[in-house]
Amino acid sequence: MCQSRSNMKSGVSIIVDAIDVLSAMFLREVDVVVQRAKSENERARLAISGGSVADHFLPALCRLGDSAEHVDVFWCDERAVPLTDPQSNYRQAKELWFDPAGFSLARVFPMFHGASLEQCAIDYERLLRQRPSQPLDLVLLGLGPDGHIASLFPTSSTLESTRFVEPVYQSPKPPPERLTLTLDLLAQAPHIVIAAFGASKAAVLGEALTEGCDLPVARLINRAAKVTLFLDPAAAGKLPAPACG
Ligand code: 6PG
Repeated sequence: MCQSRSNMKSGVSIIVDAIDVLSAMFLREVDVVVQRAKSENERARLAISGGSVADHFLPALCRLGDSAEHVDVFWCDERAVPLTDPQSNYRQAKELWFDPAGFSLARVFPMFHGASLEQCAIDYERLLRQRPSQPLDLVLLGLGPDGHIASLFPTSSTLESTRFVEPVYQSPKPPPERLTLTLDLLAQAPHIVIAAFGASKAAVLGEALTEGCDLPVARLINRAAKVTLFLDPAAAGKLPAPACG
């Protein structure tokens, strides 16, 4: 396993390990956030993503036990499909976490509710702003081989948006219509976990951790207070040399 902050912006950590070890570590991160929220008489607000990070990490959250009662779940992005559609990030989380754990859907806040994308974006922003001090406590993101996070792609016209939520009409990753949290909002979270698995993510991770990179993932890493990269050994195969080793 490798953990290092040596050659990077402060607040960035890289952890390389087997996926089951990483998912157990993520479970502990969620529990830390829950304990802090409880001590402040708050609820912990967690934003999750779709794709392989959900496949690998959400089942671990079934082991949250009583802590789960103090978690509110939001999404970093969602595909504009019915919540029952196999492509829905909500459906994925329901199958992998909410249903098996008996997690109350009253504490789950889906992004897409069938209205226009613009209206869904407005509604989600309003919901997030109900807690003005810190809209999210912990963010879980996957990483695309092109450097996208959530549904913020290198070609997105909304990377500079100062809204919290943006509609996406032409996503390069299908389906084309989506909703996404913005960099502006994501960067406000006190802790962001970005997880990537497999060799197809190695090159972009090497690029993202090189100074001057402008990819969405690099922009977020540069702006956020605390980022932990959870990588399996294949994804960590092309990290800049001093970062790991
Ligand atoms: C989505 C995701 C998206 C995903 C990355 C990585 O709904 O499409 O939220 O941002 O996390 O594309 O996906 P993989 O890990 O499956 O490659």
